[in-house]
Amino acid sequence: MALVGSGSALPELSLTNDQLALRVETNDTWIRSRTGIGKRRVIAPGESLTGLSASAALSALEMAGWEPETVDLIILATSTPDDLFGSAPQVQARIGANRAVAFDLTAACSGFLFALVTAAQYLQSGTMHRALVIGADQLSSWVDWDDRRTCVLFGDGSGAVALEAGNSDDQGLIGFKLRSDGSRGNCLNLMKSSEHLPLVGGSSHQLGGFLPIQMNGQEVYKFAVREVPLLLEQLLRSHDISPDKLDWLLLHQANQRILDAVADRFKIPFSKVLSNLAEYGNTSAATIPLMLDEAVRDGRVQSGNLIASSGFGAGLSWGAALFKWQGPV
Ligand code: UT7
Repeated sequence: MALVGSGSALPELSLTNDQLALRVETNDTWIRSRTGIGKRRVIAPGESLTGLSASAALSALEMAGWEPETVDLIILATSTPDDLFGSAPQVQARIGANRAVAFDLTAACSGFLFALVTAAQYLQSGTMHRALVIGADQLSSWVDWDDRRTCVLFGDGSGAVALEAGNSDDQGLIGFKLRSDGSRGNCLNLMKSSEHLPLVGGSSHQLGGFLPIQMNGQEVYKFAVREVPLLLEQLLRSHDISPDKLDWLLLHQANQRILDAVADRFKIPFSKVLSNLAEYGNTSAATIPLMLDEAVRDGRVQSGNLIASSGFGAGLSWGAALFKWQGPV
């Protein structure tokens, strides 16, 4: 399996920390020093997550040099679909991938990594040959914009990769480890609202709709800086790869302090840690493919580069993957 294309798409509207400070009691210095975030993108009228995901997918197709009808599988990792029944089929239709089966996968900020591993299983088993994996989220719809503890962190975006089945074990996804711990799920969630409306004869039905994101920031922070290095270490050890052999560390972009702590733990120099938090904040399932696409397109990530990646977040869920970027063939 090889990663042969990438793409990304972002909303036009960019909100700076100073602009947010007009709404909640915060300031640029606090946000930058505690998170590394400088601004974030927000989906505006006329844009949609499905539209961004179709654009990201088309860019990945173009880089890979594929015709849309050659795609077998599309997995859209998102927790914020435009359609709760699944937005992947709409992406499939928009890009003209009429042979592909398309479905959504929900694992919050770990979603892209979980979807990458899922797609790889179809390709490695030989049942499918070409897959698009998209990570996309629109948390701007689900944060409480009056809660300064959460609203400063998140942004919207979409990123995609094109995966091709191959023969060599050494290509593409080299290894992975995925974890879930629902017992700690209350640290970060986006719960269904519990409002009930009368139905007939004293019965009721639950109203659709969700409450804003609830997060215990310190608990999530502690979870990330403890579990991510542990899992990455287990993964590297199981493949007998020492950290100095890595070309890049590509972590879920949640907080610059988390990136620094993980890099420190493995003595990976800052120059090998990919970060675009300052520009886009935490775009949930989109952070990893957005970052990868940026670094591929500006030439930092080169064909054959070995990348250690980790996604982590609500669930709680977390995962680590080792993969090589191949690029178009
Ligand atoms: O994809 C996973 C998603 N979630 C995460 O990655 C979150 C992980 N956690 C974090 O990144 C950090 O915990 C935060 C950035 C959320 C918070 O940073 P912190 O260093 O843990 O701050 P804190 O929650 O301990 O708050 C310190 C102070 C508090 O004031 P007091 O009680 O000490 O007076 C907060 O009220 O900072 C205050 N504060 C703010 N001040 C200005 C909290 N948010 C803000 C804000 N602006 N936006």
